[in-house]
Amino acid sequence: MSDVRTETSTHLEQEVVDDVLALVHRATEPDGVEAVSEAFRLALASGRGGVSHTLAHAGPSPSADLLGYAALDPSGSAELVVDPPTRRRGVGRALLRVLLDAGATGVWAHGDLPAARALATSEGLVPTRELHVMERPVGEGDDVDPELPEGFSVRPFEPGRDEQAWLEVNRLAFASHPEQGSITLEDLTERMGQDWFDAAGFLLVEDTTATSDGGAHPLAAFHWTKREVGAQVGEVYVVGVHPAYQGRGLAGPLTGLGTAYLARQGVTTIELYVDGDNTRALATYRRAGFEDAAVHVVYGRPAAP
Ligand SMILES: CC(C)(COP(=O)(O)OP(=O)(O)OC[C@H]1O[C@@H](n2cnc3c(N)ncnc32)[C@H](O)[C@@H]1OP(=O)(O)O)[C@@H](O)C(=O)NCCC(=O)NCCS
Repeated sequence: MSDVRTETSTHLEQEVVDDVLALVHRATEPDGVEAVSEAFRLALASGRGGVSHTLAHAGPSPSADLLGYAALDPSGSAELVVDPPTRRRGVGRALLRVLLDAGATGVWAHGDLPAARALATSEGLVPTRELHVMERPVGEGDDVDPELPEGFSVRPFEPGRDEQAWLEVNRLAFASHPEQGSITLEDLTERMGQDWFDAAGFLLVEDTTATSDGGAHPLAAFHWTKREVGAQVGEVYVVGVHPAYQGRGLAGPLTGLGTAYLARQGVTTIELYVDGDNTRALATYRRAGFEDAAVHVVYGRPAAP
């Protein structure tokens, strides 16, 4: 398509946001996977996070149909989607080139669909990261809390009291996964404001053998579960163990506490997302009965030899 026009900005009018969301929605059915992840969707709706948005239109008129959308965050992470009826006409390549020229270092291909793989490869990109989507059905007995190792107890997250302690453990637990580890109080508050947020399913595991100056037990680990209102699918949203408490048998029971909570909410399936290089987490989840349902791939430039 020779007359594709791209336009990039950091702020979109609500009307345009709605057009983009409608396009993403149209693509989800044929693709079988959503092209825009939660973090980018939140940035799209709030205009926050320094994300730049690129729109592809059919021609010079501002009212021309929206053909595709791409987003780039300041860390270099990017996503792009083309409206299904206009695929294979050069829109995806045009958007990908805008992203790469603007400094994108990793472009997400949710589901690693053949078209995404072919486009990325034809631009000289290679897979640089894999994100596994794992799931398992909820079975009999899954609603029973497992026992924690001696010296640990569990309680729900208390808004207004636990934010700083959680941010610190999250930062330390995900030091090598910056996307999760760099979450700020603002990001946490934004998530706590979502419909699905349920403090009762945000479980904190404390070391009851120690007490800080303020009299609190140190936070050793957490399991934050997520369930969209009324959904049959629940999610192991984020699980983290403070590095000082790793290797003490917390991972298995910690996973089980969250899945038991979700089971008691009546979900029939539990899913989770885990990085392909996080071998310990992958092993924990496989032991807990989770299997790969999909793999998302990030494409980037090959490392210099
Ligand atoms: C991947 C996607 C963005 C491609 O958009 P597009 O506008 O159809 O892509 P283009 O027309 O610019 O295609 C560029 C090249 O990609 C490859 N390609 C794209 N779709 C393909 C397909 N279905 N089969 C094989 N190759 C394909 C081809 O090499 C093509 O070049 P060619 O047409 O000259 O042979 C689109 O399919 C999409 O939105 N998919 C869902 C979201 C997604 O996966 N995003 C991640 C992108 S890395």
